[in-house]
Amino acid sequence: GRFVNIAIDGPAGAGKSTVAKLLAEKLGYIYVDTGAMYRAVTLQALMDKIDMGDEKNLTRIAESVDLAFKVDETGNTRIFLNGFDVSQQIRTPEVSRNVSLVSRVPGVRRKMTRLQRELGAAGGVVMEGRDIGTQVLPEAEMKFFLTASVEERARRRHAELIQRGFAVSYAEVLEDIARRDEIDSHRALAPLKPASDAEIIDCTGMTAQQVVDTIAARVSGRI
Ligand code: C5P
Repeated sequence: GRFVNIAIDGPAGAGKSTVAKLLAEKLGYIYVDTGAMYRAVTLQALMDKIDMGDEKNLTRIAESVDLAFKVDETGNTRIFLNGFDVSQQIRTPEVSRNVSLVSRVPGVRRKMTRLQRELGAAGGVVMEGRDIGTQVLPEAEMKFFLTASVEERARRRHAELIQRGFAVSYAEVLEDIARRDEIDSHRALAPLKPASDAEIIDCTGMTAQQVVDTIAARVSGRI
């Protein structure tokens, strides 16, 4: 078969990561989590104590960080920031609270978009984010936009965080998700929205496997 690119976009907690990972495994494709890249830049900004409104310094950080993905022996993709594995650190509530402020900065997006296009240049990737179908890979052969009710998304994200050992309440997670969606959808550059040629899948009440099967059925005719 041929190697196409598959774009998976949608709001926080819609299940994009789980679905994109399973789909990439099933197809033998490379999985790219673009949210992890924005989170890594945010982590660096927090460590450097940069003000989240300081566009100039946020851009400088995005331009200067070294980001790399590596697959470990258990098949999980790890993200490295300047040579250090930060896969756990980028998932803290503190990073989640600040990431939308970093990702709205044009200079930050310019750098991340460039890196993401390089990762997709050879085809054969499942790339997950907010603007993959609209901006990063507008030529992607297949585009999906996953949604679910905000309550269901918050429930899933809350369960995930508790499982990882973070003491957060459902109400806090709901608020964080709603706030991020608001900022991500209304920013000037590359806002969260479905590409005109994306298939929208409402995942409310579906398991990750059901979503993967739905997407795989569409893809199988095309590769
Ligand atoms: O996917 P995840 O929830 O980890 O993404 C974290 C944040 O990164 C999003 O809320 C959004 O602000 C930003 N992001 C983005 N564009 C992408 C992926 C993520 O702006 N393609």
